[in-house]
Amino acid sequence: MIEIIIDGKPVKVKKGTTILHAAQANGIEIPTLCNHEGLVPDGNCRLCSVEIEDKGNKKIVASCMFPVTRTISVQANSERVKKARRTVLQLLINRNPKSPIIQQLCLAYDVKREERFALEPDLCIRCGRCVRACEANGTKAIALVGIGFDRHVAPPYELESAACIGCLSCATVCPTGKITYEESPGKRKIWHKEFDVLQCKRCGIYFATKDMLDWARRPENDRDYCDHCQKYIESVKFLTESQKK
Ligand code: SF4
Ligand code: SF4
Ligand code: FES
Repeated sequence: MIEIIIDGKPVKVKKGTTILHAAQANGIEIPTLCNHEGLVPDGNCRLCSVEIEDKGNKKIVASCMFPVTRTISVQANSERVKKARRTVLQLLINRNPKSPIIQQLCLAYDVKREERFALEPDLCIRCGRCVRACEANGTKAIALVGIGFDRHVAPPYELESAACIGCLSCATVCPTGKITYEESPGKRKIWHKEFDVLQCKRCGIYFATKDMLDWARRPENDRDYCDHCQKYIESVKFLTESQKK
């Protein structure tokens, strides 16, 4: 265990714990956007920035990406930190004025949209959560493509992706509601692709696409289900693990 100081409070953490997790475990709030507990962090939004003092050097780091390996002092909500977060939020609200999560954060940090820099509104904040969720499946059906203001998430060539299994992981982890899909009994449509959704033979719920079960390589005659649709086919994460083996 290592003792660190967060906002003046001594905190004991296991070596390798991120500053974000250390703070959260001790009731110290740090805002996040691109981080998701089920996904590998990639530190692209910088909203979770904190200030650290390490051997006399002060610097701003992304708390979700910074593992604690020795005693440091952390300022999670200093003026310098708040300024860094405001800068991030300013860029986001200029581009994403309709996103409720960005609106809430901007309210908390007193950031208003600058109309003179206003771009065409877009719910996507390019956090990459959806792409990482799809990668975690092993499906890799979508990617962040394009550069600059044209950067966006899409399947290859913006067309129906053969790799997509219709699991909805991307839509589930998206913090802004950018990824939409259509659902009706027995059918689902996402990323321009239509899927058959299977009905649990025991509870009657339409619960997973045929492509998801094919991806998990479960023989048709094993498909009886329930026990909460076999824990939602061991959740999509199960599919990930089976692919890694
Ligand atoms: S629905 Fe398709 S694109 Fe989205 S995570 Fe699942 S496989 Fe990937
Ligand atoms: S679509 Fe959603 S999850 Fe994907 S990058 Fe945009 S905001 Fe993030
Ligand atoms: S939440 Fe840490 S960089 Fe986005």
